[in-house]
Amino acid sequence: MAGLRLANPTILASGILGYSAETLGSIVEGGAGAVVTKSVGLKPRNGYANPTIAQTSCGLINAMGLPNPGIGEFVKEIREAKTALNAPLIVSVYGFSTEEYAKVSKKAVDSGADAIELNVSCPHVKETGSEIGQNPKILKEVVEKVKATVDKPVFVKLSPNVTSIAETAEAAVKAGADAITAINTVKAMAIDTETTMPILSNKIGGLSGPAIKPIAVRCVYEIYEQVKVPIVGCGGITNWRDAVEFLLAGATAVQIGTAVALKGPNIFKAVNQGIDAYLKRKGFRSVEEIVGLSHRS
Ligand code: DHB
Repeated sequence: MAGLRLANPTILASGILGYSAETLGSIVEGGAGAVVTKSVGLKPRNGYANPTIAQTSCGLINAMGLPNPGIGEFVKEIREAKTALNAPLIVSVYGFSTEEYAKVSKKAVDSGADAIELNVSCPHVKETGSEIGQNPKILKEVVEKVKATVDKPVFVKLSPNVTSIAETAEAAVKAGADAITAINTVKAMAIDTETTMPILSNKIGGLSGPAIKPIAVRCVYEIYEQVKVPIVGCGGITNWRDAVEFLLAGATAVQIGTAVALKGPNIFKAVNQGIDAYLKRKGFRSVEEIVGLSHRS
């Protein structure tokens, strides 16, 4: 996919167990075909004060505030992960300017990243994330600059919090994106009825998990009709049937995040076995045969 070879179509989504070579290793052992790190920026960030996660009946709302050690420190984990992992390593990158996205991407690739996933979709940190991805002009600048700086595949992870995600995807692809990851979290909040106050210290966070799956499937379906690059489906996948739904919508591979946090790393094996059994039962010979199959008229 987009120049990467994956043993299977399941990938660890950014933000879950993605800080160290050791935790990434446990995910590959759990059966993932590739892994994406937690987003890393130019400088270290502490992130927001607690509480940073609120559990709801149908998913998690989180606002961590992009905590990370900064790329200077993180290159050690990238190097270690690269030697230890038997699967492609995709480094998620954010920045507060076009130059920052490019600098961090270059350091990540120079230390061994197999691909970059641009986080232009974090829903609540000011002057980065979705503030970049929601503006086609700035998005184009960032993607073009990163593409001109690194010679590895560039995935662009998009926000559903836009009027037309297909148009955003088209802007990213015109700027050179090798693949689109859809979707990042949906802007959301939860209020504690006892304290009468918002639960998260940042008040607003990003909703993930089963609640957003139908939104994500719709986004993948719309993007598939608009662009020709591979799409990585992401949002609320908890079992093989969810994964197959994304493949039928047009995804070439899927990312799993929240379900890993709730069910553990072996979810990847379970999803892959389920996909295999489905393909056999329906008489398909490969995953490729069902990518976008729901679009036929
Ligand atoms: C954070 C970043 C994201 O991209 C997202 O979707 C949710 C949370 C964060 O670090 O706060």
